[in-house]
Amino acid sequence: MWGEEMYLTIDGVEKSFVHDGQDVKVLDNINLQVEKGSFVSIVGPSGCGKSTLLYLIAGLEKTDIGEIKVADKKVNKPGPERVVVFQESGLFPWLTVLENVTYGLQLKKMSKEEANEKARKILKMVHLSQYVDAYPHQLSGGMKQRVSIARALVMEPDILLMDEPFSALDEQTRMVLHQELLDIWRKTKVTIFFVTHNIREAVLLSEKIVVFATRPGKIKATIPVPTMKDGMPDSVTLNVEQRVLSILQEEIEKVLKEEMGDDYSLKTNHVHRDHSGDMGSHI
Ligand SMILES: Nc1ncnc2c1ncn2[C@@H]1O[C@H](COP(=O)(O)OP(=O)(O)OP(=O)(O)O)[C@@H](O)[C@H]1O
Ligand SMILES: [Mg+2]
Repeated sequence: MWGEEMYLTIDGVEKSFVHDGQDVKVLDNINLQVEKGSFVSIVGPSGCGKSTLLYLIAGLEKTDIGEIKVADKKVNKPGPERVVVFQESGLFPWLTVLENVTYGLQLKKMSKEEANEKARKILKMVHLSQYVDAYPHQLSGGMKQRVSIARALVMEPDILLMDEPFSALDEQTRMVLHQELLDIWRKTKVTIFFVTHNIREAVLLSEKIVVFATRPGKIKATIPVPTMKDGMPDSVTLNVEQRVLSILQEEIEKVLKEEMGDDYSLKTNHVHRDHSGDMGSHI
């Protein structure tokens, strides 16, 4: 599947949910093109519809208006070419690492031998060869996320849909997994659609950052991230981070005002931002 020309097109997508008997629009006129093999991140305030858009691409939810296509094929249900990695690993606790990873292949009626061989290759890629027979409770949080990435990759997806996959991990583990994910992306050429709260993470990983506005969610800006052969100097990373943050500031204030009252202002309240680039719980 990785050899074919493949891309994602989101065309005029709208989505509402019913709250207290009323339709609330969550996504409004979303248009986005994702090139085959690219790495795109989505950032935006909490509740702006990032996960909803990811579920629509996964086929777990249906659009009200507009359509989503993968290589000109309309998405209307989940499929193995579009797999999701969630914040929680969601592994089956009663299965070993190897059994968790081969589970989807066996549903596809692949022989046990072939499935095991494929899974072992992928587990090697995520540096878990020594843990094939371990159970999830014997693994650290980072290792569990590696298994869930392996479980997704073994399906040889065209698009890996990742919804804050590293946000529950400590900073050090997160850094290691960033490097591993970039290596996997380069090796497999899989297209990655990555939702995150962490602006720095988006800048370090992706080629393009899509910034969402909120209520209803719509695309506010699309920022290309410069790629440099020998890695990005800190000054470039900070510069892109600042650009994303300044675009988001208005949206953040909108959310805070709704939650804390009209007098609230980010500028006057001196909100402290730590070095990790995480936008915190309100956004
Ligand atoms: N299945 C659902 N039924 C009803 N409302 C929903 C459903 N899924 C999402 N929503 C609502 O849609 C809005 C957007 O939710 P979504 O989870 O997409 O936001 P998000 O940008 O991923 O937020 P966060 O950054 O906090 O994860 C929220 O107001 C949420 O309550
Ligand atoms: Mg979400």
